[in-house]
Amino acid sequence: MTLSIRKVAVLGAGTMGHGIAQVCAQAGCEVALRDVAEGALAKGIAGVEKSLDRLVEKGKLDAAERKRVLAAITPTTQLADAVRDADVVIEAIPERIEWKLETFREIDASAPPHALLGTNTSSLSVTEIAGAVRDPSRVVGLHFFNPVPVMELVEIVRGIRTSEASLDGARALVTKLGKKPIVVRDFPGFATSRLGVAIGAEAIRMLEQGVASAEDIDTAMKLGYRHPMGPLELTDLVGLDVRLAILEHLHREVGEQFRPPALLRQMVRAGKLGRKSGEGFYVYAKS
Ligand code: CAA
Repeated sequence: MTLSIRKVAVLGAGTMGHGIAQVCAQAGCEVALRDVAEGALAKGIAGVEKSLDRLVEKGKLDAAERKRVLAAITPTTQLADAVRDADVVIEAIPERIEWKLETFREIDASAPPHALLGTNTSSLSVTEIAGAVRDPSRVVGLHFFNPVPVMELVEIVRGIRTSEASLDGARALVTKLGKKPIVVRDFPGFATSRLGVAIGAEAIRMLEQGVASAEDIDTAMKLGYRHPMGPLELTDLVGLDVRLAILEHLHREVGEQFRPPALLRQMVRAGKLGRKSGEGFYVYAKS
């Protein structure tokens, strides 16, 4: 039976969560956006407004559609209310395994039995996360990319127990959102995070070793390889803390080639987290 996707619950209103909520609402779904704090929800909704404004300015969205998309997103702090009648639940909370397991236990208690359960984790084990629910065949990785409204890929991660029906549901969702799916096996770092952090970490080591300036390392990849952004700019966009957490996980799970560079660790300790903190490898004007 094909999954009918009318209502989506997105858990976590951060950069990824509010972006996912936006694209689901733009695709015609009713969306519940849940975060633990009112402040985080307000920030998430403001992020959606800003992104929609950009689309209106570019003439890609009209004012009525902007209004409709915003009205389709219901913010809430109550997880049970958000997931109660959802067809799809997408978890996009911080990358802490114990938080994810607790969240999936709560989802399991309140979501309808037909709902597809997705996690936006960029490196943790989908199979381990699925172990928190009674029927792990319902759980699949739905890995989106930042900025969500612009990036065309969703990496679907198949856990050891993920069913064919869940994979079909995930493909149907991604297609409905106008994005392209790839399916990868549940292996640390999947396809995209593993390759992405490998280039990012090497660029940071090159900076440490004085091979070239941050600007020149980024220019090398933009002009020499046609990457839309250099690896250091991209680390600033993703967040240095996020990349450090992925590297630490891959270092433990895969091996020495993912040892985090000392410079990355120091910058995170100094609060230089990239765009979101105003400084990373570059300095940003406050928006
Ligand atoms: N909402 C809506 N539209 C947005 C947007 C947003 N948040 N951000 C950018 N856009 C739109 C712009 O309006 C613009 O639209 P037009 O083409 O109609 O003009 C378009 O996207 C391009 O943006 P800009 O002109 O401002 O700037 P740009 O051409 O330099 O592109 C970029 C910006 C899209 C971010 C581009 O540099 C890029 O693709 N960078 C690479 C991003 C990337 O690699 N992301 C993956 C990160 S890894 C990850 O997310 C996964 C993980 O697990 C950590």
